[in-house]
Amino acid sequence: NAMLAWQRTAYHFQPQRNWMNDPDGPLYHMGWYHLFYQYNPHSAVWGNITWGHTVSRDLIHWLYLPIAMKPDSWFDWYGVWTGSATLLPDGQIMMLYTGYTDNYVQVQNLAYPANLSDPLLLDWVKYAGNPVMVPPTGIAPEDFRDPTTAWHAWDDKWRVTIGSKINTIGFNLVYQTTNFTTYELLDGVMHAVPGTGMWECVDFYPVSTTEMNGLDTSFSGPGIKHVLKASLDDEKKDFYALGTYDPSNDTWTPDNPELDVGIGLRVDYGKYYASKTFYDQHKQRRVLYGWIGETDSEIDDIRKNWACVQSIPRTVVFDQKTGSNILQWPVEEVETLRLNSTEFHGVELEPGSVVPLNISSATQLDITATFELDEGALEATIEADVGYNCSTTGAVVRGTLGPFGLLVIADDSLSEFTPVYFYISKGIDGTYSTFICSDEMRSSKAYYDLDEKVYGGMVPVLEGEKLTMRILVDHSVVESFAQGGRTVISSRVYPTTAIYGAARLFLFNNATGVNVTASLKVWRLDSAYIHDFPFDQM
Ligand code: FRU
Repeated sequence: NAMLAWQRTAYHFQPQRNWMNDPDGPLYHMGWYHLFYQYNPHSAVWGNITWGHTVSRDLIHWLYLPIAMKPDSWFDWYGVWTGSATLLPDGQIMMLYTGYTDNYVQVQNLAYPANLSDPLLLDWVKYAGNPVMVPPTGIAPEDFRDPTTAWHAWDDKWRVTIGSKINTIGFNLVYQTTNFTTYELLDGVMHAVPGTGMWECVDFYPVSTTEMNGLDTSFSGPGIKHVLKASLDDEKKDFYALGTYDPSNDTWTPDNPELDVGIGLRVDYGKYYASKTFYDQHKQRRVLYGWIGETDSEIDDIRKNWACVQSIPRTVVFDQKTGSNILQWPVEEVETLRLNSTEFHGVELEPGSVVPLNISSATQLDITATFELDEGALEATIEADVGYNCSTTGAVVRGTLGPFGLLVIADDSLSEFTPVYFYISKGIDGTYSTFICSDEMRSSKAYYDLDEKVYGGMVPVLEGEKLTMRILVDHSVVESFAQGGRTVISSRVYPTTAIYGAARLFLFNNATGVNVTASLKVWRLDSAYIHDFPFDQM
């Protein structure tokens, strides 16, 4: 079926077949980036969860390796669930993961490579004394999962944190260990937020407030903040907040209580969940992966025999300009896929205009775009769309100062298209709010079984800044980054006509009250090499 085959991505990591969810235990070892992932080897729906394994030299081209860990012990009988790697100063690798036991209890287990001198880390040994942590008193057996990377504390002990909940209060527990086999639960919690429910896949890491490089998870010192991220099980959304970690009692306090974990900023405003970072010691950066699921029906997942992709790895840094968010940006290695580029300078977009761009086969693209608005019109606007929110309208509803942006994965007759756009609202007091949105509502004529949404969120725009976006298009995935990565949206689209050579790119301005000038650079992207490891050549 050509329609379903078209949906497979060309440079996002996805298994050859079957189901994938969370990224697990990312690490860099002997010249190779390792990525493990929640994988069902038997079908394109969730279940029988093992750790799939893949390696890359550059985070773009991947080699599939054999499954690293399968359910084969009582302590992970119903699933080898999510976990994280810790690299010890002596070179050892400690892998902590959640096992779902033969008795339906979530426990934490330890595994380590059988042979550290194997760059591919093919064989994993599960510690014979597993589990190393069991749900503590007061915590339900199914509310205790997804250990983080451990960090080395002032007292020479390691700390690791694990998400949980009691009633609807979500929080993360902290354990300490010296040997990774025995753990002591510390009193209290690191942080709790009422009403947020179960915290899955907690991530906790330092960011520098003065430098652009990433920091090792154990880094401590002046000039840092800590990011705390939780994946909210009830909403299936990743939220983070910036704050201060107090190493003396292992608590964390948000910079802004109104933007606390689970109620404030999202890692990605689209179809995106269970994200995880690691410190890349090779390039001194922190790299983020996230699970981008399907929004098509399970029946179609089974028909095409695969489901879900990983996001393009993104670097994460603190935004020194706003001081109130992180910046996510596709790793620089993505640029090695860039083929020919086309530039468009100063394209005038009058209210109500749609302008085709001369890009054929617009299925694998890296787009950078800048939008400038007519200042006079902005100032003359007294008030516009106060209380705007991407999900309420979508790109066809016209306001004074938006929407304007790009139509990606569109066909010539615009029977299918996915708008990625800015929308500005202005209060009577003269303050502007800018939104970045991604509208899936008209992305496909096969509307009957798709979960189409208008995604998006607010994006900070500072005095004197132009509006900028970068969009990565890869067949059925659209990843959009606004203002250098302050706000990010991943979308899934399943067109039936705007496929292969028929896919096009357009600019549009659906605002009623402002002229917009756009400048763009559009690269066609090559496909990545994502194949089986050639074992017979070893
Ligand atoms: C998040 C999650 C984790 C769990 C894993 C199971 O998507 O539910 O909490 O460890 O997936 O596959």
